[in-house]
Parts: sequence; structure tokens; C-alpha cells
Amino acid sequence: MILVTAAGGRTGRSLVKALARLGKPVRAVDIAPSVTALRDHGADEALVADLLEPGDLRKAMAGVESVIHIGPLFHHREADIGRAVVAEARRAGVGHFVQFSVVHPQIEALLNHQAKLAVERAVVQSPIPFTILQPMHYLQNIDVAATVRSGVHRKPFSHDTRLAQVDLEDVTAVAAQVAGDPGHHYATYELCGSDYVNGHEIAAVIAEVSGRPITTELQPISDFASSERQTREEDEFPYDAMYRLWGHYSRYGITGNPNVLGWLLGRPPTTLREYVVRELEAAAQAG
Ligand SMILES: NC(=O)c1ccc[n+]([C@@H]2O[C@H](COP(=O)([O-])OP(=O)(O)OC[C@H]3O[C@@H](n4cnc5c(N)ncnc54)[C@H](OP(=O)(O)O)[C@@H]3O)[C@@H](O)[C@H]2O)c1
Repeated sequence: MILVTAAGGRTGRSLVKALARLGKPVRAVDIAPSVTALRDHGADEALVADLLEPGDLRKAMAGVESVIHIGPLFHHREADIGRAVVAEARRAGVGHFVQFSVVHPQIEALLNHQAKLAVERAVVQSPIPFTILQPMHYLQNIDVAATVRSGVHRKPFSHDTRLAQVDLEDVTAVAAQVAGDPGHHYATYELCGSDYVNGHEIAAVIAEVSGRPITTELQPISDFASSERQTREEDEFPYDAMYRLWGHYSRYGITGNPNVLGWLLGRPPTTLREYVVRELEAAAQAG
């Protein structure tokens, strides 16, 4: 049995389907009750559990051979959660620990990167054979159908800086492939596609594929993250994390190399153009 944490989120849902395609048995675990719907999408078992609750974590880990740990997005205790999952996996005698980290976790200014680096340390220092996956910024952050509908590519950071990108489907295909495979023990894999593009170039690809004019617009961060101070300290965290991430992207962008992902997939990674074509075909099918 393979335990997938934060399975009800965007990454987890894609991963559960990828594992099911390979016929690997999955226990999907998430704090969100909607995780139970994954029983209809490839999960053999689905469990509602808070990873910060030791009793819940113990139940989630019981009888598991491999763990694929996804940290909850912008969670103020992401590092504590990761360390607790590693500790429980050690106690339970798990045979393989796959960590969903992030590309360049060394970028200390970013709170989500700091958390993932802390978990990487716990993973590397544990006696469990591990594989660390470091995905790039997902192509799925671009809502192609909405962009074509509005004629505007909007995002909360500069359209002038370039970011590397990766298709989440490529990432989860690799995660499903490596889980439980001793050939990937003690490896750290950067998972990045071949596009290195700014917002104007993304808009141009969407315009070319859709045949519609697409402009760019800087979306105010306040659409996502309140600039007002929060009553509870932990509620500041996701906002702080977003401000830092998008500030960093605006100033520096982010880079990566597609070689490792191509090697793992046995084909070139999905391109931005292929992603746009696929998204528009899916939107057309959905009506
Ligand atoms: N987006 C990207 O481009 C990108 C790139 C590389 C890496 N990543 C990383 O990938 C990870 C997953 O991102 P995502 O977009 O899939 O996140 P997501 O959609 O927000 O999913 C996270 C899930 O974790 C659940 N959760 C929160 N607290 C929990 C707890 N205490 N115990 C159990 N489950 C809990 C959430 O439930 P609730 O919704 O009910 O809180 C949610 O279902 C993040 O760590 C992110 O940094 C993302």
C-alpha cells in the first residue's frame, strides 16, 4: 500500500490517478472530507486525517510500504507536518519515502522553500530509503480556458521576468513510477520542463494556439492575499508566503533544467504549447 498525503489537493488528485494507472495500491489521506471522492478516481482507500494529530497519522501509516508525502500548500506548520510524517514512517518501518519538495529549496527568502528544505533534511537523515522530487512551478497555474474567455493573461507577478515551468501530469507520472522502486532510492530529482518564458511569451503562445488576441495584466496580490493584519499569527503565514513568492518571481523569476525529467519520462517533457493545446481541447470537450 502507498500512502499519499494531502491527497485531496491539486497535486494529490493527479498523483492518485497516476498511481491507479500503474495499478499501484493507494491510500489517499487528507484533512478535507472531499478526499473520500478519490475512491471513485483510483484510490483503494481514502481517509480523512489531520497530519498534525498523532493518532490520525498513526492510522494513516498502518500497513503502508511506501509513502509519497505532499506538504499542504502555504501551511504555517508544513515543516512540522513533514517531520512528523517522516518520524511516523520510521516507527512503522516504511520501506520507501518519496518527498514532494520544490525546485531550489535553498532559496531561503521563500517560506514554502524553507519548509521543504527542513523536511528534506529529516528525510535524508532518516534511515528510510528515500527519493526527493523537486518540481518546478506548474503549468497548471495558467488557466488557459479562462485566459481565452477573457482575452487577458493575468497573474500577480511581473510579466517581464522568465520562469521555467513543468506539467503537473509529468510530475505525478514520475512520482507514481518511482514509488516503491529501489532503482530510485537515495535520488534527488529536479523536475522541470523545457520552457523558460515570461508572461508576454505565455500570452503569445495562447493567442497563437487559440487564434484569439491575448493581452497581459498584472493582477493585484490583494486578489489573493489580504494586506490587512490578521488576528491569529498563523493566518498571516499564507499571505506572507504569497507576498514573498510573487515578489521573488517578479525580481528574479526561477530557473531549472529539463534533462532529468526527460530521462525519467523516456520522452521530452510536455511543452507549454502542448499544455495549451491539451487544455483547449479539454475545454471544448467539456462544452
Ligand atoms: N503549485 C505549484 O506550482 C507547485 C510547484 C511545486 C511544488 N508545489 C507544492 O506542492 C504541494 C501541494 O500543492 P497543492 O497545490 O496540491 O496544494 P492544495 O491543492 O492546497 O492541497 C493541499 C491539501 O492538503 C490539505 N491539508 C491541509 N492541512 C492538512 C493537514 N493538517 N493534514 C492533512 N491534510 C491537510 C488541504 O486541505 P484544506 O484545503 O481543507 O486545507 C488540501 O486538500 C505544496 O506543498 C506546494 O508548495 C506546488
